[in-house]
Amino acid sequence: MNTNAVDNQLITFSLNGVEQTIETNPKRSVLSVLRTDFGLSSLKPGCSPQGVCGCCVALINGKPRITCTLPAKTLAGKSIQTLESLSEREAQIYSEAFAGFGGTQCGYCTPGIVSQTHALLEKNPDPDDTAIKKALQMHICRCTGWVKIHDSIKAAAAMRRNELSIPLPKKEGVGGSWQKNSVYSAVLGRRPYIDDLDQPKVLHGALVWTPHPRCRINGIDVAEANEMPGVHRICTAKDLPGDRKVGLIFRDWPVLIDEGEETNCVADILAVVVADSREQARAAAEAVHVDAEKLTPLTNVLEAVKDPANIIATSTVVKGDVDAALANCTHTVSDQYTTQVIDQAFLEPEAALAIPDEDGGITVFSCGQGVFDDQKQLCELFDLPPEKMRVVLVPTGGAFGAKEDLNVQPHAILAARVTGQPVKIALDMAESTRFHPKRHAFHMTYTVGCDADGQLVALKADLVGDTGGYASVGDKVLERGAGHAAGPYHVHNVGVVAQTVKTNNPVCGAMRGFGVNQVAFALESCLEKLADAVGMDPLEFRAKNLLDPGLRFATGQIMNEGCGIRQTLEAIRPHYDRAKAEGKHVGVACAIKNTGMGNGLTEVGRVEFVVEEGGKIRLYTGFTEMGQAHDTVMAQMASQATGLPADTFVVECSTRAMVETGMTTASRATYLGGN
Ligand code: FES
Repeated sequence: MNTNAVDNQLITFSLNGVEQTIETNPKRSVLSVLRTDFGLSSLKPGCSPQGVCGCCVALINGKPRITCTLPAKTLAGKSIQTLESLSEREAQIYSEAFAGFGGTQCGYCTPGIVSQTHALLEKNPDPDDTAIKKALQMHICRCTGWVKIHDSIKAAAAMRRNELSIPLPKKEGVGGSWQKNSVYSAVLGRRPYIDDLDQPKVLHGALVWTPHPRCRINGIDVAEANEMPGVHRICTAKDLPGDRKVGLIFRDWPVLIDEGEETNCVADILAVVVADSREQARAAAEAVHVDAEKLTPLTNVLEAVKDPANIIATSTVVKGDVDAALANCTHTVSDQYTTQVIDQAFLEPEAALAIPDEDGGITVFSCGQGVFDDQKQLCELFDLPPEKMRVVLVPTGGAFGAKEDLNVQPHAILAARVTGQPVKIALDMAESTRFHPKRHAFHMTYTVGCDADGQLVALKADLVGDTGGYASVGDKVLERGAGHAAGPYHVHNVGVVAQTVKTNNPVCGAMRGFGVNQVAFALESCLEKLADAVGMDPLEFRAKNLLDPGLRFATGQIMNEGCGIRQTLEAIRPHYDRAKAEGKHVGVACAIKNTGMGNGLTEVGRVEFVVEEGGKIRLYTGFTEMGQAHDTVMAQMASQATGLPADTFVVECSTRAMVETGMTTASRATYLGGN
């Protein structure tokens, strides 16, 4: 929205007990006023300006209100309270309660929930689950789940009533319940995410997106935008000579699309507008005129797969003679399955802050999942040696795979190099959603056969994965799907073909499960039908075919004692039997997932300890904290190994430390960092 055309107004209100008068555009959001003009970073932008996630809740006249949808003029005469005004005791209660009862993970949603909690407990000192549920209706938490949040709120209530003491007991070694690293400041909104970082003379970037998924860019006219208030520079592809492409495996994703080129999907970016304020940059981005010839996008992956030019990679798994074995099966089931694209839906939209260094290098604050992978791509893109491309990880507000690929780091760096000033770019949720890779839609054709006794004999699967406009890590997702296509079952004859296919749909890449969830759905659906055909109980059918240590996985890998699927299934058997006996509808499904990259890749885990003045020890790591508590378990393991208290260790992820470890993905950071 171009808000520049509106006259400013004087608005007077009380903020955290202090009367304030500002002159501002009355259409600006309250969230923007409180974060930008008053630096109140406990209010998080989340889905702003959609008003659905609750991360930006403040108390207005004592009532919790979402601030991203409220215009600034509504502040007039009101009393506003944010977490910054909590008393010392209140701050201690909420941080201890949410830390002690596990009510926070990435922490991005938590300050909003704590504001809501404060309002609730002011009027209801002993709320039950119904009251808490009602109060939390305007909030979304992507990571934690509601049970622990309810527990935390009830604990906070008990502490306020002096029925529960603070602080709570802690045990800091491995297996202990140590509080999450920096959790107290995160709960109160005081631990900065990238968009909270302040920097002198910082400029703000806004992106100009392609108007269509697939189009030819005939012209990018920046003349009008260049004249808009506050604009310093508009960067286009012409400011980035040489190869403009990035990518973790295939370098196929252009950072900017140039005039005369075609776009491939809605994630394509045409220009970066750099201005004094974010609002000015966004207003000017809307004034960039793009002459684009709309082209018909390729959106049907089953059409796309017919053209070999669209097939990025093919993975196969071959074990035995699957066709001959299927021909001899007593029972076979053959069916087709489709899964949909799924967004990771983390609450912190992507952001980056780039700061030019005096030595001609750059420091970039990143919310990615692998600082060394970020650094490698950025060095190639900007032709800088690693020592001049310093990537500092800022703990992220959730990622779930979607922040493996580079996001706006290149655009922030380009803008910083061109202007010679620090530049911050922060996407809003709509931009984030169109930009980051998602979970692949799979089309799967499965044929599974067994003998008369229900012993699995053969499994054949054709997988087609729609990876969208760019490869991302799509080939590895399909490879992982192929490897896991037979699930946690021992099958002698396996034939899987998995194709990664390019379309003009949104980019797909990493998401928790990495291709395994999709094949588990198809396989388990087949097994249900096969058990029915044999006349066996579905749990018994699965138990008969499970992998045990010593047996070979579909890829030929011999299972070791880490394969615990049988113990898992047997642990639920009594519950399953009881539910069946009670006539309840009950089902069972199994899955298996690798840990680490696998597929022959060397797995490296390193940390570095530096003793600092004052008795602290800095624990350098290359792995990312994104809510999963990586930094906490590193401190716990260091504590156990050294006998020193866990809070001796300050965990930092940075390329400065030369502890290259690869991507934080596939549950590998804990065991590699721990080793
Ligand atoms: Fe709630 Fe991450 S802890 S969104």
